[in-house]
Amino acid sequence: MKLLIDDANIVKVKETWEYYPCDGVTTNPSILAASERQPYEVLREIREFIGPERELHVQVISKKAKDMEKEAGVIRERLGANTYVKIPMTPEGLKAIKSLSEAGVNVTATAIYTPMQAFLAAKAGAKYTAPYVNRINNMGYNGIQIAMDIHDIFRKNGLSAEVLAASFKNSQQVLELAKYGIGASTVATDVIEGFIKNAAITSAIQAFVDDFEGLVGNGRTMADC
Ligand code: G3P
Repeated sequence: MKLLIDDANIVKVKETWEYYPCDGVTTNPSILAASERQPYEVLREIREFIGPERELHVQVISKKAKDMEKEAGVIRERLGANTYVKIPMTPEGLKAIKSLSEAGVNVTATAIYTPMQAFLAAKAGAKYTAPYVNRINNMGYNGIQIAMDIHDIFRKNGLSAEVLAASFKNSQQVLELAKYGIGASTVATDVIEGFIKNAAITSAIQAFVDDFEGLVGNGRTMADC
């Protein structure tokens, strides 16, 4: 499972990238708004930081297919042709996904709440479909199960699309999908930081340090004992 950062705060993106094995960055209009910077200014900075080959996902705003396609053109022109264009999976979005995919554009179908949306987007050529795990949970359904069902639908129907699960609130949700082997998850930086934040780990490591310092002296390590 690929791990992407769902954030447009450049400081947080850089910090998370430095520590965690990440495969790319995803954004949406709300995430860009939270960065309080001009969209292309911050997106260019993210692109420069992650390099031309890594995955960057950027969402269109328009609601009509032809306008979505126009936005896709500008996004790719400004941020690189391999940038994944996120298209909300409405009927107009599906029309745009079909046409953009036929033209060789990397498309991520987003705002996925149902397996049928994902199935149609994949048949239309989307590379990824992004179910919103936590938002689905908040509606009283099982977001993890829906993401797994979508993965199974793709494999059973010979569709090459992958699940790019989004909207996570905790490590357990991400781990459930890693266990299932879905294609990718995109996770906010604060949730990523929680992945290995664990008092038991901290305490076990401190006990090792205390024992060692008791043997050779405070502040000593294997480099200078
Ligand atoms: O892009 C969709 C996803 O990032 C939404 O996450 O946390 O706003 O539900 P969230």
